[in-house]
Amino acid sequence: MLTSLPAKTVQASRISIAQLMQPEHANNLGDVHGGWIMKMVDEAGALACMRHAQRRVVTVAIDSMVFRNPIKTSDLVILNAEVTYAGHTSMEAQVEVQAENPITGERTQTNTAYLVYVALDDAGLPTAVPALVAETEEEKRKLEDARERQKRRLAERK
Ligand SMILES: CC(C)(COP(=O)(O)OP(=O)(O)OC[C@H]1O[C@@H](n2cnc3c(N)ncnc32)[C@H](O)[C@@H]1OP(=O)(O)O)[C@@H](O)C(=O)NCCC(=O)NCCS
Repeated sequence: MLTSLPAKTVQASRISIAQLMQPEHANNLGDVHGGWIMKMVDEAGALACMRHAQRRVVTVAIDSMVFRNPIKTSDLVILNAEVTYAGHTSMEAQVEVQAENPITGERTQTNTAYLVYVALDDAGLPTAVPALVAETEEEKRKLEDARERQKRRLAERK
């Protein structure tokens, strides 16, 4: 089914959020809980998809996440999210997580996550989203990669 909604660029979905990590986000050794990072990742991905769809969205799938570097209390966590794929009612968001020491300015990439959301209408049913316009070579490559990931997810669902 084709949507009559005007297509939107990747750029229009891009968001960046940052939060200072506090002791309540971490264990006794000052390492931030993976679950807290996952919550922020889910929120950032949802916001990018809400921007794209201009609808409320729900998370339907989260790919596996690997944490490459620890995030400590007093680090600033920065999440950069964008829509990498739009289907009929579903969208994939890529969320990059960085940790910054606000005193030294040192930044480390801790992980990149891929999540799928579905846009819902006012009755809570899946609803069409705008097509995604990949403008740059990098966005086009990401779109191709995202299509492959989505194919894999749907094959696994069966
Ligand atoms: C999201 C939800 C409404 C989809 O309902 P559904 O009956 O599976 O709907 P459909 O089968 O039509 O799928 C809707 C879209 O999601 C995609 N989708 C469904 N399952 C998927 C999966 N495991 N991985 C990736 N995409 C998936 C479909 O391909 C379809 O995309 P398209 O319209 O772009 O082709 C329903 O599964 C749901 O309510 N899940 C719970 C969501 C939730 O509570 N999340 C946590 C809190 S936000």
